[in-house]
Amino acid sequence: MSENEATTDKIERLITPLETHPPAPEFVAGTKVPADLRERAAADRLGYWAEQARELEWATPFTEVLDWSNAPFAKWFADGELNASVNCLDRHVAAGRGDRVAIHFVGEPGDTRDVTYAELHREVQRAANVLESLGVTAGDRVAIYLPMIPETVVAMLACARIGAVHSVIFGGFSSDAIRQRVDDAGAKLVITANGSNRKGRVLPLKEAVDAALERPGHTVEHVLVIERPDHEVEWVEGRDLRWHDAMAAADDVHEARAFGAEHPLFILYTSGTTGTPKGLLHTTGGYLAQVAATHRTSFDLRDDDVYWCTADVGWVTGHSYIVYGPLANGATQVMYEGAHDFPTLDRWFEIVERYGVTIFYAAPTAIRGFMRSGREIPQRHDLSSIRLLGSVGEPINPEAWEWYREVIGGGTAPIVDTWWQTETGAHMIAPLPTQDALKAGSGQKPVPGVVVEVIAEDGRRVDPGEMGLLTITEPWPAMARGIWGDDDRFIETYWSQFPGRYFAGDGAGVDLDGDLWLLGRVDDVMNVSGHRLSTAEIEGALVEHRFTAEAAVVGAADETTGQAVVAFVVLKESQREAAAETDAVAALREWVGRIIGRIARPRDLYIVDELPKTRSGKIMRRLLKDVAEGRQVGDTSTLTDASVMQAIAGGVAGGAHDD
Ligand code: WT7
Repeated sequence: MSENEATTDKIERLITPLETHPPAPEFVAGTKVPADLRERAAADRLGYWAEQARELEWATPFTEVLDWSNAPFAKWFADGELNASVNCLDRHVAAGRGDRVAIHFVGEPGDTRDVTYAELHREVQRAANVLESLGVTAGDRVAIYLPMIPETVVAMLACARIGAVHSVIFGGFSSDAIRQRVDDAGAKLVITANGSNRKGRVLPLKEAVDAALERPGHTVEHVLVIERPDHEVEWVEGRDLRWHDAMAAADDVHEARAFGAEHPLFILYTSGTTGTPKGLLHTTGGYLAQVAATHRTSFDLRDDDVYWCTADVGWVTGHSYIVYGPLANGATQVMYEGAHDFPTLDRWFEIVERYGVTIFYAAPTAIRGFMRSGREIPQRHDLSSIRLLGSVGEPINPEAWEWYREVIGGGTAPIVDTWWQTETGAHMIAPLPTQDALKAGSGQKPVPGVVVEVIAEDGRRVDPGEMGLLTITEPWPAMARGIWGDDDRFIETYWSQFPGRYFAGDGAGVDLDGDLWLLGRVDDVMNVSGHRLSTAEIEGALVEHRFTAEAAVVGAADETTGQAVVAFVVLKESQREAAAETDAVAALREWVGRIIGRIARPRDLYIVDELPKTRSGKIMRRLLKDVAEGRQVGDTSTLTDASVMQAIAGGVAGGAHDD
């Protein structure tokens, strides 16, 4: 499909009346989401958010709602004081819900463990005491590099309890990436595990941390190590401490202190259009208010729900919709450690069946993967407990949406497509499942209290039936409060293209009913399986290799993962012989894995003689994308040398790539 056909296809969707799925009366019965919620929020946006924030427990109630005087650095509920961990734990225990299961944990090897709110509360108090005994105090940064296990939640909430700022680093990142993040945040402590269970093998997490900290000059005083798989690790005396020993020695009572609503809660790094990841800073009160509110309204949360978000805590989805949202709401959830296809593709469905999962929240990549392997697999299981499905991280194509509803949702479960970002902290666009007639593939409406506008490059608001750029016009409680250590970059990246508005970097369309369609990134940010990767960062890693003279990376459409990383590399003249003696393609892919992490390894890597450039020396990624997606190469008239593209296309068609 050419770029033009793809565009026509998207416009087609905006102007074609579609079948809609109104909420079934049986579904709506018993909902706690008021029918006039959206109208109320539209009439009094700040009042709505204040009302949502009052659902939290405040040690000092707030009197101010929003202070936008230092825009774009917002302050929400700034004179109020609260503790995030108290909101997620103590208040539920105090209300007599301590015996309720917070987490049904399923380990990859098959071990299971139910953790109640009372147990989680005690563990977090112990861990808070451990952190304090190590000299960690309010405002200190703690890096967390852990698998999907309950201890990860304990570690995060223990930081929150003492006012320390956690920076969770996804387990798929390399030691270099860990070091970069540890240095940027100035982390005092690292919490890791001896390893992580992945597809029957052990991912060596502690080794990665050791390698990250090998070079002196970092800020880390201690490394706390949780023992998870049966796996021996090296020990750095004086620096390394065993989590289990420290926890056993610690008291399980910890008096929590309240912090100002704007006290930093966490930093989370994400990729942008440059080579350096950005540490988005989130604070306490506004973030917690919006994640909890959206977790209730987008998912129509009820007391007897068993909720399951399949994301990893290393991404924002895990922060907001595994840790803070569900726990602030006192929900019961499933947490699964391992891969969806281990030991077989039945794994997720066995878990749904075993725990009677009612709300299931996953990424389109996973859904498309299951579509390809066939409906027989989910149909072997009783999935009838599911009453609502969620989608997150990337656009969901209408075919995947229909399949998801029919095969996983029994033909009746509403699908809530939630659009948001690390920067937004919480859902921004999502249908209200109890009220909206759903359309396959549309995010539909901003969540109550959020105001967005799709505009053209010139700032004009697009008409129904048109595509444009998604902007957010009013501040929202869970918005990032900046980029750690770089206020200018925050302003420059998000607030400078369209003054007074937040620019998300996403394209969107508005259909004839005024519903929103999210169309993916319009910048050099790729979205692979719902994970954000930067072309510049991967190019930077490739040129660090001794073989490489130049590199260009594009995100190419991929049927399963949405996009895939495709790299084009020009070798250094002096290295051609050396490269010919090894498998240079494999070596370069592995190298990217080492520098950034295995998630960033290119799917395809082509060695080419030259990259297509304009007369001013700019790489024409658009043409490389044509090649990577197997299309006829587009307009080459601005190239210095049009034969370059013929050579590249010829080489690619000749199969000079790696599968
Ligand atoms: C980017 C944000 C949201 C948490 C996980 C990813 C894309 C996210 C959707 C959706 C279409 C989506 C956007 C966005 N995205 N959700 N429902 N439909 N696109 O967080 O790593 O910060 O990435 O993911 O392009 O900008 P993230």
